[in-house]
Amino acid sequence: MTDVFVSAPGKAFLIGEYAILHGAPAIVTAVDVRAFAQAASRSGVETPIVRCTRAAVADALERDIPSLGPAPSVDTRAFAPGRRKLGLGSSAAVAACVAAYHLRRAKPDAPAETLRDEIFARAFDGHRAAQDGRGSGADVLASVYGGSLSVRLAGGRCAIESRPRADWLTIGFVDAGAPASTTSFVRAIEAARARDADAIEQGISQLAQASARFHAAFRPFAPGDVAAALYAELRAATLLHNDGLRQLQRAADVPIMTEAIETILAVATEFGLAAKPSGAGGGDLVVVFAHEPAALDRFAVALQREHGLALLRHLRPSAPGLRFEAREPATSRLAGFFKLDIAARRAAVAHAAGIEPTSFSSVDIGALGLESADNLIENVVGTLELPFAIATNFVVNGRDFLVPMCVEEASVVAAASNAAKMIRAGGGFVAHADPPWMIAQIQLARCRAGGLRAEEAAARITRERDALLELADRAHPRLRARGGGSRELEVRVLAEDMLVVHAIIDCRDAMGANLINTIAEELAPAIERITGWAAGLRILSNLADRRCSHVVARVPPSALCANLPSNEWTADAVVERVVAASRFAELDPYRAATHNKGIMNGVDAVILATGNDWRAIEAAAHAYAAQGGRYAPLAIWRKGADGWLEGRMSMPTAVGMVGGATKVHPAARLALDLLDCRSSAELGEVIVAAGLAANLAALRALATEGIQRGHMSLHARSIALGAGATSDELEALTEQLIASGEIKHERAIELLRALRATRR
Ligand code: MEV
Repeated sequence: MTDVFVSAPGKAFLIGEYAILHGAPAIVTAVDVRAFAQAASRSGVETPIVRCTRAAVADALERDIPSLGPAPSVDTRAFAPGRRKLGLGSSAAVAACVAAYHLRRAKPDAPAETLRDEIFARAFDGHRAAQDGRGSGADVLASVYGGSLSVRLAGGRCAIESRPRADWLTIGFVDAGAPASTTSFVRAIEAARARDADAIEQGISQLAQASARFHAAFRPFAPGDVAAALYAELRAATLLHNDGLRQLQRAADVPIMTEAIETILAVATEFGLAAKPSGAGGGDLVVVFAHEPAALDRFAVALQREHGLALLRHLRPSAPGLRFEAREPATSRLAGFFKLDIAARRAAVAHAAGIEPTSFSSVDIGALGLESADNLIENVVGTLELPFAIATNFVVNGRDFLVPMCVEEASVVAAASNAAKMIRAGGGFVAHADPPWMIAQIQLARCRAGGLRAEEAAARITRERDALLELADRAHPRLRARGGGSRELEVRVLAEDMLVVHAIIDCRDAMGANLINTIAEELAPAIERITGWAAGLRILSNLADRRCSHVVARVPPSALCANLPSNEWTADAVVERVVAASRFAELDPYRAATHNKGIMNGVDAVILATGNDWRAIEAAAHAYAAQGGRYAPLAIWRKGADGWLEGRMSMPTAVGMVGGATKVHPAARLALDLLDCRSSAELGEVIVAAGLAANLAALRALATEGIQRGHMSLHARSIALGAGATSDELEALTEQLIASGEIKHERAIELLRALRATRR
């Protein structure tokens, strides 16, 4: 039988949690974070959920469990980026995957749709058995059937009543920072009912009313609908729901509405948005409903800036349900990759990423071609080639990435891969990104004495904000159609005779330089008319601080010590020394510059490989590093309460996946195909992860055995290759070169000759 690969999504409640247990309907949506099952390469410990689901399948097939064959391995990393579980129903997704895996193997010819009901039934039984007979099964329904489902309990199990759609809504999820325990809350509420039935009943009945009102508004527009009225109704339903939760909290004395949740709800209210906890409360997720994508972005920007709480852009609602896949998901864990020759590396990457091996012709020598080069810039006489390599081991938000890097400096790719492996041991990078907002600057100068004073001119521009933003949108109608467009207008007084206007534009997946410059030029004459001042420069700002990516990494101390002589370094000492190295950069701009150079080793290499503008990124990085008034490190490291090393980094990432060299350069196309990012925001996250990995590798080396040792062995390796060593001679020649203390071409030729003579 051929291999079975199956994936199933997580879930989030949109409304009706708690109320569903008392007969009211709830809406649950599948979230595009997927568990993935395939044949296990070796047998592992079966979790209760796997064991119970296998038992349910065996029971239904009237077979014994061993006859099903070994349990599949199920990957749920995406549900717990950085090892922090997000409360998205991973156990339901596991049950769905395991049931589907065995049923597909038992019934290889059954069409997927025919199997679906059977998969649900077995997954439901298994899931419930693993939870001691509790659980409504709403999460299993979402995982198996996907989309958004209105569900209700009937005879102890959930059934689908309808598949409501409200495509006019933009739905986002915010991480409220702490995992919640649904079962302990439900138990506490049941216990409180015995003490004060009325209070609990009141709370539950309010939640049921909220669900009914929400259902009435969560639908497509009907003729005669007024969008604002429908949205107001949905918002009223969420407010009612939140009040109901507060009542339960008071009556049962459980922390359902945490401080972080209340903060998120308050910011949503400030922005006129509807929001509520998704699930039991007590931390975890808050779901936010916006009437347009830009409103969600504005809210997210304020929440991040003022409270450090992040909108999780990669969590998308109404995801497809369980599906059989053609292959396993891409992996970036390619053990021994560096030892392979180039052809074998190409084959390994093609296999791991699911791309055609022939795609690598785009990085063959001369692939750009003189004609294309001549079309890219002026006065072309040739091309410059750089190595195109793949950094391995990267996991960002639970997703594997093979990271393409172009750089001339030895050790950058190896170091980044090595650090990514350490971070992988801690659950991978956890990242989030600002919306892709760029700044168009219009400089204004007072042209004559007697004209408006600077503050008056600024006030006039601010009064015309809406008209100016509309004008900006007219300059690029296609951008609006793609979901981008103007977002904000700011005026800054730089001197009594100089102003600057910032038009903030959402560029979606473009880097945006061209479209921003067009908009700046379009706005300038209108602003001149409003103020009587003269427009000067009209161009984007490369300090793209409204478009940052933010990455966090946690490293278990044991992983940090890999490849260091164990008699010389304890894990704790390495953690302390990396933290001290970080503090050095925080205290000294001379060190901060070198620290950031190491970060840019990783960042620029990906920027270059993906055909992005590395001068723009460099300019942004260093201006951002100096934004506090003193040049500072972009990444810092601390020791966590559990002794793990924790690093965080933010920087502007004005990068695109469409247009410019990303479109024309064949290597850039391959790089983007390999990364397979879902948005420019995700690309920015991967780029910052590469920077943080490069930084960790450098600090670890510098803080322990020094940078030269690692550099030396890579240098020796490239000298050995230059001397003509074949892959089976390479390791031995490299070692001999290092031992000789003379890492030079002539010495390598001599040693290689001797090596061949002895082997012969
Ligand atoms: C060399 O390219 C980069 C380093 O200098 C970075 C650092 O010192 O952190 C090693």
